[in-house]
Amino acid sequence: MADIEVDLSAVDLQAPEHRADPWPVYRAMRAQAPVWPSTLEDNTYLLTGFAECEAILRDPRWSSDPKHRPPGDAAGDVDVRTAISFGDANVLLFTDPPDHTRIRRLMSKAFTPRSVERLRPKVQALVDDLLDDVAQRGTVEIVNEIGYTVPVTVICELLGVPVSDRDRFGPWSSDASRLLDGVLDEATTNQGLLGAMQIIAYLGDLIEARRTDPQDDLLSALVHAEDEGVGLSEEELRINTLLLFVAGHETTMNLIGNGMHALLRNRDQFERLRADPTLIGTAVEELLRFDGPVHISGRVAVTDVEVNGHEFAAGDQVLTVLAAANRDPARFTDPDSLDVGRDEGPHLTFSYGIHYCLGAALARLEGQVVIGSLVQRFGDMEIVTDPVTYRDHFVLRGLKELQVSV
Ligand code: HEM
Repeated sequence: MADIEVDLSAVDLQAPEHRADPWPVYRAMRAQAPVWPSTLEDNTYLLTGFAECEAILRDPRWSSDPKHRPPGDAAGDVDVRTAISFGDANVLLFTDPPDHTRIRRLMSKAFTPRSVERLRPKVQALVDDLLDDVAQRGTVEIVNEIGYTVPVTVICELLGVPVSDRDRFGPWSSDASRLLDGVLDEATTNQGLLGAMQIIAYLGDLIEARRTDPQDDLLSALVHAEDEGVGLSEEELRINTLLLFVAGHETTMNLIGNGMHALLRNRDQFERLRADPTLIGTAVEELLRFDGPVHISGRVAVTDVEVNGHEFAAGDQVLTVLAAANRDPARFTDPDSLDVGRDEGPHLTFSYGIHYCLGAALARLEGQVVIGSLVQRFGDMEIVTDPVTYRDHFVLRGLKELQVSV
């Protein structure tokens, strides 16, 4: 792809133009400044190379706990860091070993690959029902009507949360996920915290019920999970059930939205997948690589550390730009092309190392069933939304809507 001249000093990563097409900026960063100082926060650097991102994500000298940042240096109106980690609560995503190891082991005992694979027929039946309705209407808005509905219904089913309540969670979950963005104004932060609290309160009642009356569901398994007689504390249970519940909403919704958008904009790849449904496994991996739902993850140096010739000081923060790493030409051949048969090994969309996404198997299953079914059933599908616009999130990347005719 031809490189256009990008003046990195003038780049606004939160501008709608960047969200719509971040790739030229990421290409320029990788080429000109693989360690790029962020204008959003002090002592914060964006990393865009695959090898550097991967090295940091597996290096224990880099922490996931935002509390390793020096106090009072957030560029926003409020310090979201304390908010997002809920004081001292052990949110798996923001916890380092040894607590991370202990909690992750307990959660993995409850959330097994078997419990996920068992869901496949149910997910297919749910998608078939939704698509029967689409066939009758001749049109569908993919992001919200399918992309949101499927993961939220599935996680409710898995956890044992009444599906009839699913429409209540959408706004709460969307508000809560903004807390990932780190630098926010006070109103957005408060709205995010309120969303999180509402979900915690809702789940708290269900957790209590499962203590005395366990069911065949993930919530009961989490409540009763033990390792050598020790389980999750009450607070760990609530906060990490919230994480499980929210982590899969917008991410998987964006996989479905971004993924279908990429396929429809690259019609030859849509047709290729339609002609050979066995490509669905590599196709979903490629869509995750090509335009993934999580653009960025962050780490803080716990000690002075050198990466690729750059000296970081303890307390420095790096934003590993997973989406940029996934298009690094040193790692993937012709990285800006979509190739649904690509077989070049793992991307970084689910991260790497000890925080590798716990829900990756579930996300893949949902992505394969939804995208595979849409492509097989609606060969004449065309995008109606033009131009498409992206949500305001910084860490997550997804379309506001994608209206299509079938
Ligand atoms: C396409 C969909 C998804 C994407 C792209 C995604 C991406 C990620 C990423 C990048 C991380 C690690 C962040 C870091 O290294 O700091 C992560 C962690 C996590 N994800 Fe996902 N995720 C997805 C779906 C899900 C689903 C469906 C669930 C569960 C229902 C889930 C649960 C989690 C949990 C619990 C963690 C924390 C793991 C840890 O810290 O050890 N995710 N995810």
